[in-house]
Amino acid sequence: MTNSYSLLNNETGEKVELPLVKGTLGPAGADVGKVYDKMDLFTYDPGFTSTCSTKSAITYIDGDKGVLLYRGYPIEQLAAHSSFIEVAYLILNGELPNKGQLEEFEASIRRHTMINESLRRFFDGFRYDAHPMAMLTGIVGSLSAFYHDTTNNKDERQREIFAHRMIAKIPTIAAAAYKKYFGQPFMYPQNHLDYCSNLLYMMFAVPAEPYHVDPIAAKALDILFILHADHEQNASTSTVRLAGSTGCNPYAAVASGIAALWGPAHGGANEAVLKMLGEIGTVKNVPAFLTKVKDKNSGVRLMGFGHRVYKNFDPRATIIREQCHKVLKHLGKENDPQLELALELERIALTDDYFKDRKLYPNVDFYSGIIYKALGIPVNMFTPMFAIARTVGWVAHWSEMVSEPGGLKIGRPRQVYVGSPVRDYKDLTSR
Ligand code: ACO
Repeated sequence: MTNSYSLLNNETGEKVELPLVKGTLGPAGADVGKVYDKMDLFTYDPGFTSTCSTKSAITYIDGDKGVLLYRGYPIEQLAAHSSFIEVAYLILNGELPNKGQLEEFEASIRRHTMINESLRRFFDGFRYDAHPMAMLTGIVGSLSAFYHDTTNNKDERQREIFAHRMIAKIPTIAAAAYKKYFGQPFMYPQNHLDYCSNLLYMMFAVPAEPYHVDPIAAKALDILFILHADHEQNASTSTVRLAGSTGCNPYAAVASGIAALWGPAHGGANEAVLKMLGEIGTVKNVPAFLTKVKDKNSGVRLMGFGHRVYKNFDPRATIIREQCHKVLKHLGKENDPQLELALELERIALTDDYFKDRKLYPNVDFYSGIIYKALGIPVNMFTPMFAIARTVGWVAHWSEMVSEPGGLKIGRPRQVYVGSPVRDYKDLTSR
């Protein structure tokens, strides 16, 4: 591989060297930071298709080969052998924990599961039909008004407490948002339960009767959470980093990530997939629906298909697809008409030239919604489930960014201005 690139002005012959920033895997980045100074030129890349915003040691993706590594470990191995809590430790700390470290980490997460009683009352201010993602954004943002002891991002211990608090409290907040919708009493966390069992308990238990967590459901959720825990510089993580780069309150930075995740092009896709399946209705309507998808003027997309980075297959989708069959079989729902519909949609799309030519494959969200639905989780809670898992990635990236040697550098992109050239103000009477 060459050691440097240069940018050439074809008219003047002027050249700027672009030093290479090399990583351990994947393409190097050409450092364009001096281009503006030296050439009075911006680099233009809306959507950041070729632009690295940072160096990071957390997650690696090779989109062409369908590779996803957390701290070097393949996602397939972590999904098969690890647990969400162990993966959270790995993502946060860079190494797999030994037995003692894992116990200590788990204990710390359990200790932080409750939320302040005043914060619980914030839910009363929402309408009964508020979307849980709206509540999640608002309540997580409100955490910044409660925990003033973890805002010094230079202090490693404060960063650690912030990370543990966020990971511990997000299921409690999401479950409360769910209960709000149904008008049921909020259930306090049960700290003898593991992370995902506790979440299922807080969502589905009621004070009036005992509730037994289905271990297969909890395990399925645990695997889904491992798959969603991080995905390098995706839209929501980049949002957390950009907000955090100003030095803002870390809980507020996470709230901005939740807001970004909500969009249907990102985490909101799992909800959109189920809505789409509902609209298609039955297998016989699939060809007509795909004709609409291929018509650029229809504005209809095949939700759960396509990915900015994966142009071969999404390794998470492969794991989830298998889980989907397992869970539905366990729950006696393997003949679920929506699964049948999803599989037919997948089958036709994978053999259709439109999708093949554009390298569009099912992504993680194509199947996750079907599992969530089988577990009895309502559609508007799908994206909050994603947010719970991705909180690990958000706090890890925030922490990596704020602890970088040399201090914080505010993220501040430039633009190509296309508005009016300079003109003189006219007073009201002459307009
Ligand atoms: N259905 C139909 N056509 C599609 C789809 C789709 N789902 N996705 C992309 N295309 C087409 C585009 O129309 C475009 O066609 P063209 O070249 O003829 O103009 C081509 O494929 C490239 O699409 P882009 O939008 O340029 O791809 P981009 O990388 O910007 O978008 C995205 C990626 C947003 C994920 C897109 O594929 C999409 O909207 N998918 C559906 C939503 C979804 O499932 N999002 C979840 C992503 S995973 C996650 O966030 C967890």
